[in-house]
Amino acid sequence: MESIRRVILNADMMVFVTPLYYYGMSAQLKTLIDRFCAFNSSIQRKRMKSALLTVAWNSDSWTFDALEAHYKTLVRYLDLKDQGMVLGRGCGTPSMTKHSGYPEKAYELGRDL
Ligand SMILES: Cc1cc2nc3c(=O)[nH]c(=O)nc-3n(C[C@H](O)[C@H](O)[C@H](O)COP(=O)(O)O)c2cc1C
Repeated sequence: MESIRRVILNADMMVFVTPLYYYGMSAQLKTLIDRFCAFNSSIQRKRMKSALLTVAWNSDSWTFDALEAHYKTLVRYLDLKDQGMVLGRGCGTPSMTKHSGYPEKAYELGRDL
């Protein structure tokens, strides 16, 4: 965690990337975020940029409601400056994702920063 902490505090942007697992982020990403507890105020002081990149099997309109709400709450709490979200509906496999158009959207988000 010490090495990750240093990388985060030397960066100007955090990009949260996760598959959708039971309508939330993966446990792996959540475990990392939980460790922010030791340096919340250092993150808050930096006013870092942030983005969310995620994919899910389903394509209902409400698929990402809970994850989106969680991300926006983190942005608010950690004083992040949201640069955008790519919510990949209907991306259940690498092949579905490849043909979905969402990788291009993620590319454009990064290009336009
Ligand atoms: C444990 C688990 C939980 C999942 N939960 C959801 C879910 O709640 N909604 C959904 O649409 N897809 C769900 N999926 C499908 C994954 O989101 C989807 O297969 C994944 O995003 C594909 O990304 P990958 O190619 O990077 O693995 C789940 C998959 C797994 C393994």
